Amino acid sequence: MKKIGVLTSGGDAPGMNAAIRAVVRKAIFHSMDVYGIKYGFQGLIDGHIEKLEIGSVGDIIQRGGTKLYSARCEAFKTDEGQEKALKQLEKFGIEGLVVIGGDGSFRGAQKLTEKGYPCIGVPGTIDNDIAGTDFTIGFDTALNTIIEAIDKIRDTATSHERTYVIEVMGRNAGDLALWAGLADGAESILIPEAPDEFDMVIDRLKRGHARGKKHSIIILAEGVGSGIDYGNRIQEATNLETRVTVLGHIQRGGSPTASDRVLASRLGSKAVDLLRIGHSGKMVGIQKNQLVEHDIMEIVGQKHDINQDMYKLANELSI
Ligand code: F6P
Repeated sequence: MKKIGVLTSGGDAPGMNAAIRAVVRKAIFHSMDVYGIKYGFQGLIDGHIEKLEIGSVGDIIQRGGTKLYSARCEAFKTDEGQEKALKQLEKFGIEGLVVIGGDGSFRGAQKLTEKGYPCIGVPGTIDNDIAGTDFTIGFDTALNTIIEAIDKIRDTATSHERTYVIEVMGRNAGDLALWAGLADGAESILIPEAPDEFDMVIDRLKRGHARGKKHSIIILAEGVGSGIDYGNRIQEATNLETRVTVLGHIQRGGSPTASDRVLASRLGSKAVDLLRIGHSGKMVGIQKNQLVEHDIMEIVGQKHDINQDMYKLANELSI
């Protein structure tokens, strides 16, 4: 394989730039040409494709967002869209593609694979909701952003003796909430993987209050429901003054942590290795700190399980 392409798709994630850099540099190291496809699968359909050189990816390893821009693309879900994309790849002589993104992006990669086109997926999403990998690129940075925000909220929660509900992202997954809750000593964590814990939250708040506890932090994963609704329900059920903070897209930005930069560099590089040896329809991942590959077909639509021990521990420590 002499020419490969790389694109980022779906919600951006800190570390995507480090992954793009790794793909480009690793390919050039092996004397391959690399093409950057802008705006994800939409850009592939529309032909927003340009050659990347060593210098094109200089000074980006530390930057959040994605140099190649990103998009969610409905047109690519159709056969017509996929055929248009294949024509563009043929026009530029691109023989294989690295797709950096989440579950939706991998579905796109799988479609091209089914049509006989070599694709490798690199998991990049703050949600950490991809099966077959312990971590996705961007999760660690988002987690640290959340922790920094909660530390600040805790100051004012203490001063005003209030209960705070903090809604975090994660789509249908609870990893961001769970890890943030454990890292920040939250009183309660509400995640989609354990949706029926509301009564337990109320009970814990009441018991804490009876013991003299003056403020509480509850972390709610967006997949469970609206923070505003939960805030209202909690205030009603406990009579404690409750405020809600929805952290929103601040969680997607910022300079990637060292951990995300290293992960992105390893996974991006591994994706190029797989294309070079003729693999296709694979996702690269990390499990027990070892790089792994899985069939994308087996990954898409599968659930990434939360660590049940961690959930149990968070509950044990927040008695
Ligand atoms: O998948 C990343 C993510 O940030 C989710 O956590 C969130 O539900 C979603 O994307 C938000 O999407 P958008 O940026 O399109 O509003």
